[in-house]
Amino acid sequence: MPKSFFIHTIGCQMNVYDSERMAAALCACGYTAAFSWGDADLVIVNTCSVRAKAEQKAFSLLGRLESAIRRRPGMIVGVAGCVAQQEGARLLARAPYVDLVIGTRAVQRLVDLVRRAEAGERPIVDVDLAAPAADILEPPPAQTSGGISRFVTIMRGCDNFCAYCVVPHVRGRETSRRPEAILAEVRGAVADGAREITLLGQNVNSYGAKEGLCSFAELLTRVNAVEGLARIRFTTSHPKDLTRELIGAFGRLGRLCPHIHLPVQSGSDRILERMNRRYTRAHYLDIISKLRDSCDQIAVTTDMIVGFPGETRAEFEATLDLMRQVQFDSLFAFIYSDRPKAPSTLLPDKVPFTEKRERLQELLRLQDTITRRKNAALVGTVQEVMAEGFSKRQAAGDEGDSSAQWTGRTPGNKVVNFDVDGAPAGSVDIRPGRLVPVRIERVLAHSLRGVRDGGTATDRPEREADHAA
Ligand code: SAH
Ligand code: SF4
Ligand code: F3S
Repeated sequence: MPKSFFIHTIGCQMNVYDSERMAAALCACGYTAAFSWGDADLVIVNTCSVRAKAEQKAFSLLGRLESAIRRRPGMIVGVAGCVAQQEGARLLARAPYVDLVIGTRAVQRLVDLVRRAEAGERPIVDVDLAAPAADILEPPPAQTSGGISRFVTIMRGCDNFCAYCVVPHVRGRETSRRPEAILAEVRGAVADGAREITLLGQNVNSYGAKEGLCSFAELLTRVNAVEGLARIRFTTSHPKDLTRELIGAFGRLGRLCPHIHLPVQSGSDRILERMNRRYTRAHYLDIISKLRDSCDQIAVTTDMIVGFPGETRAEFEATLDLMRQVQFDSLFAFIYSDRPKAPSTLLPDKVPFTEKRERLQELLRLQDTITRRKNAALVGTVQEVMAEGFSKRQAAGDEGDSSAQWTGRTPGNKVVNFDVDGAPAGSVDIRPGRLVPVRIERVLAHSLRGVRDGGTATDRPEREADHAA
């Protein structure tokens, strides 16, 4: 019987990507994927420590695993990701049944670590952040899930040291992969059926700067030329490094989706300075207007932190005011939490939790109104939706409605559920990865509803065709 593994992932796309890498490496050495951790010979929990809540989630999951281990003696338990990196050997004191502590740059050494654990060497802690560059930059070839939408990491680590953030401490220094390696991975994914690629990094705008590689805009231009790819996305951008060249790329590259996730964190200059973000509110507003000049359709999303130490009511209101000014399409908002090694942990004047929670609610209420208004403006327009699969209603086999309902995303990354009038599910020219013209009819709380707008489903984006003409 081949041995089986189960990976549970918490955290950002970086972790999702690393989990895919670990799965590929394990499959290549004879392991098979298990359906649940209860059936697995090897369980890996890939963890996040960006906020206290994420870290608690990792520990509560590990607690639940303990009983599965009792039922299955011999099971190997690994903890990977940012909590593993942050805690190192301390993790063993809290969860003594853990066999492997796999730091953020030990992912490449996973197979070796598992082999050693199989041979009886337990526990093993590998949290070396200074692994040789080739180790970090050239992951093993992945044969991943075969989905139409894939992530490709273009850089690791972060050098920005925002005052509240644990990432530079757990992911190490910023290191960019060579463009050739990235392009080879993109081409491989496309050959394997991918239609949309999201390039990943903590700050993609500074891609290649340290190593003297090409600029990020140049990298996008090269990825844009990959035959068979329909959409390119990227995340995350830091406002301080957004170049004019990159802003121009939105108007120029047909496959680059008109969407930017540009975390602002706060609308108050004093808080931005204390956060060590190294831009001002005025600078942020200026780049938003330049982005909209370059591409009037561009969707802008952001991250916000409420209750940073010392944040006054007036400073919080400056954030609300910025939101009214920018009109974000959507945002992620977080209650500030102290993180180990983050300098803000030592700052005085912590905002009480109840106050932080109220600020969060107020901010989310405002964003809700803005999101609804922005989505309502799309009603009546025809959007190019990349079909992903049948919608939940369709998948649930909703009785009494025989027409197909699909789900997909607009170029601006909004979820659309759409009907394909009259045609029974599965009998039309739509399939996952195809671009379908959809007329938006209604706005729901978290999605749009629409109906296929005649025309044929295509493989090439409309913007590209326009551009080529
Ligand atoms: N590199 C990305 C963000 C990575 S972390 C960037 O710079 O944009 C994702 C988000 O988590 C951050 O944008 C921030 O809004 C939030 N975050 C990070 N540390 C936090 C903390 N200590 N408390 C609350 N939110 C935090
Ligand atoms: Fe954290 Fe700032 Fe780096 Fe983003 S840019 S990962 S928020 S330190
Ligand atoms: Fe979390 Fe690590 Fe990502 S801290 S957000 S999993 S880089």
